[in-house]
Amino acid sequence: MVLGIETSCDETAAAVVVSGHRALSNIVASQVDMHAQWGGVVPEAAARQHVERITPVIHQALDEAGIDARDLTGIAVTHRPGLVGALVVGIAAAKALAFALGKPMVGVNHLEGHLYSAFLEQEARFEPHVCLIVSGGHTELLYVKAHGDYQLLGQTQDDAAGEAFDKSARLMGLGYPGGPQIDLQARSGDPKAVPLPRARLQNPLDFSFSGLKTAVRRFIEARPDGYSIPDLCASLQQAILDVLVQRTLLAAQQTGVSLITVVGGVAANSQLQTRMRQESANAGFQALIPPAKFCTDNAAMIAAAGYHRLQAGERADWDLDAYANAGW
Ligand code: KG4
Ligand code: ZN
Repeated sequence: MVLGIETSCDETAAAVVVSGHRALSNIVASQVDMHAQWGGVVPEAAARQHVERITPVIHQALDEAGIDARDLTGIAVTHRPGLVGALVVGIAAAKALAFALGKPMVGVNHLEGHLYSAFLEQEARFEPHVCLIVSGGHTELLYVKAHGDYQLLGQTQDDAAGEAFDKSARLMGLGYPGGPQIDLQARSGDPKAVPLPRARLQNPLDFSFSGLKTAVRRFIEARPDGYSIPDLCASLQQAILDVLVQRTLLAAQQTGVSLITVVGGVAANSQLQTRMRQESANAGFQALIPPAKFCTDNAAMIAAAGYHRLQAGERADWDLDAYANAGW
């Protein structure tokens, strides 16, 4: 029974997870409304909000799970990658709890958390697979060979897929975060209306999305009298998804796995879910995509990843530190 703590960006989250996959509670206090006024996450403001919320959020996670903190077997906390000032708040809370309760603690890579989110509340068991991590900060294709054994197959050379959604949405005057807005607008648009680029790179499993954002800006600037937002959203979404789906299937073919997982905030995209399931099935693969509450940042995924590290005997020392980079 592991308590997960997540404060790497703009969600203060805590959750209790049993056996690495059954979530007894999953509390997320989002700061998105606060950051929306600035059009993006302000690190110092995020850190201060975490300080205010971390203790009540942890209490709520324990209450909702119906357990006492003394019943926990361990504590897992995100320690990288993320905003350092935000990460240290969760780490300090984890250390205090672990010390007071005499429980083992482990540091978890946020991306590894996303990876395990695919198996939360699912029947499917962990096996070698290809994982596409698509979030506001990351776009990475991993070959997951075993617990803790990953090979990075490809990654973005510039913007993350979520950034392509968010920055383009801002150009269109849609709110922050832009992904959900574009998802919604795209439903009534024509994906063939606006021709947009699909970047090809030397490594066929790498990504690049910065050209897309530039193409969207040029398209808007050339039309001072207005344009169809649904058409532009549908075309942009199609351009991003074409690349994500094609490269993930290619990675699955190259590695010889039969399971594909898609995780991170962008995995909540309705069209990505439909296409990935359909096109994976057509190519003979099973696609596992978590429900939206486990796609976006949460602490259940951190507890799940931490469970496997604790099982393997890993323990963090009191000098557990926060790092901005992913470290892989
Ligand atoms: O994983 P996440 O919650 O935070 C990070 O670790 O970055 O991902 C947030 C990202 C944002 O860029 C947001 O626009 C995107 O996920 N997102 C979506 C959708 N819901 C969230 N993008 C496309 N379609 C969605 N429905
Ligand atoms: Zn994330």
